[in-house]
Amino acid sequence: MKDSFYESDFKPEFKILKIGGSVLTEKKSMRKRIRRKVLKMIATEISQSPENLILIHGAGSFGHYEASLYRNGFNAEGLSLTHHTVSLLNREVVSALRNEGVSAVGIPPLSCCIATSERISRLDMNIIMGLTEMGVIPVLHGDVVLDVEKGVSVISGDQIATYLAREVGNVLLGFATLSHGVLDRDKNTIPLITPENFDENMFHEIEDMTGGMKGKVIELLSLASEGINSWIFSGLERNNIRAFLNGEPQGTCITGGIRHKYIKTED
Ligand SMILES: Nc1ncnc2c1ncn2[C@@H]1O[C@H](COP(=O)(O)OP(=O)(O)O)[C@@H](O)[C@H]1O
Ligand SMILES: [Mg+2]
Repeated sequence: MKDSFYESDFKPEFKILKIGGSVLTEKKSMRKRIRRKVLKMIATEISQSPENLILIHGAGSFGHYEASLYRNGFNAEGLSLTHHTVSLLNREVVSALRNEGVSAVGIPPLSCCIATSERISRLDMNIIMGLTEMGVIPVLHGDVVLDVEKGVSVISGDQIATYLAREVGNVLLGFATLSHGVLDRDKNTIPLITPENFDENMFHEIEDMTGGMKGKVIELLSLASEGINSWIFSGLERNNIRAFLNGEPQGTCITGGIRHKYIKTED
């Protein structure tokens, strides 16, 4: 089902930025605390280049614990509680952006998205594109969604970001996380990951409910093979999000080797 916004000639270059739940909250301790200074810094940097931006954030300590209680199946209360908890974080993110003068709106995936066996099978791009065209920044997040096979499933912010990147096509895709980029075994930032240099043992891994860093890189390599390159950088470091939004991303670039104007080469 295609529709007017989506089929129109409106083809700007979008920026899709996913901010890790661990950047915004105290995810490790699972305390429901927001890193307010970090959130304000991020909102300020976004306010300086908000054009054609779609934002996604993870759940961090807001929702991962609640979802884990229903790992073997969500009932009505599990769905309500998990969604409610992550919505509280979403509201804070939107408020921080609004305080910096950004016209942002929270878009809960539960209300615009359907999954099939834990993968997004439908997401209403009309809403996302229509808002962006108006100059509004949609702010999506990891969420519980209805699943035609499983009843209910948890959809990560990472999955939403890659789904949107495929739908939009011509995008600059970035992931703000806690580390400076993807770290190798000596904890140095790997500048470029391609299908050629990728090795399962190239970095060490800390698992979490949404797959952690290795899962993210594997998914992004698949995206790169379709021509969409992405960057992983620190969301804690000042000016990183500003640099990303200005087309000069820091950190690790994941690419299929296709030339891209945002990859600096020797020539
Ligand atoms: N090899 C690695 N390189 C970089 N970060 C890693 C690595 N292994 C584990 N991590 C951790 O994984 C985090 C990213 O995991 P992820 O679940 O995607 O977090 P979030 O979604 O909150 O950004 C990084 O912030 C870092 O703490
Ligand atoms: Mg994650």
